[in-house]
Amino acid sequence: MRKAMFIFAAMLLVACDNNMTQPPAPSRDYTPAEQQTLAAGSARARTCAACHGPRGISRNAMYPHLAGRSANELSAALTAYRDGERKHAIMSPQARGLTDDDITLLSKYFALLPAAATATTAE
Ligand code: HEC
Repeated sequence: MRKAMFIFAAMLLVACDNNMTQPPAPSRDYTPAEQQTLAAGSARARTCAACHGPRGISRNAMYPHLAGRSANELSAALTAYRDGERKHAIMSPQARGLTDDDITLLSKYFALLPAAATATTAE
């Protein structure tokens, strides 16, 4: 019996440890509409991932995190880059081809993703 308890405890430990290596779990359940946004957004955001990370959390301080930021803030930034009100040698060309619908989708998508533990913004 004691041996069985030990094995159970060891299995729990392995399960916890394994959990640490997974991407951060969403902090809540997503509605069907949000799940649709996540699916469409992740397809549209594939090019963004190269710099901003696969889930909007960048591994390089040069690139701001996008996950968990407000959709309004993200869409304002993207619109400003696209329209030339905000200029950046790397980011402006990324935003140039975006339609209003792209910006709405991408902003909602990144806003839904779990934020990084520490925020990195361009400001
Ligand atoms: C080649 C690298 C690269 C790619 C690809 C890229 N970005 Fe960026 N992005 C940057 C950099 C660098 C900045 C910071 C620019 C600055 O300081 O103004 C930035 C800034 C931003 C910001 C402003 C964040 C803030 O804190 O104000 C948003 C929003 C953003 N990117 C969204 C996107 C989206 C959406 C895509 C995909 C369509 C994308 N980026 C693709 C490099 C990239």
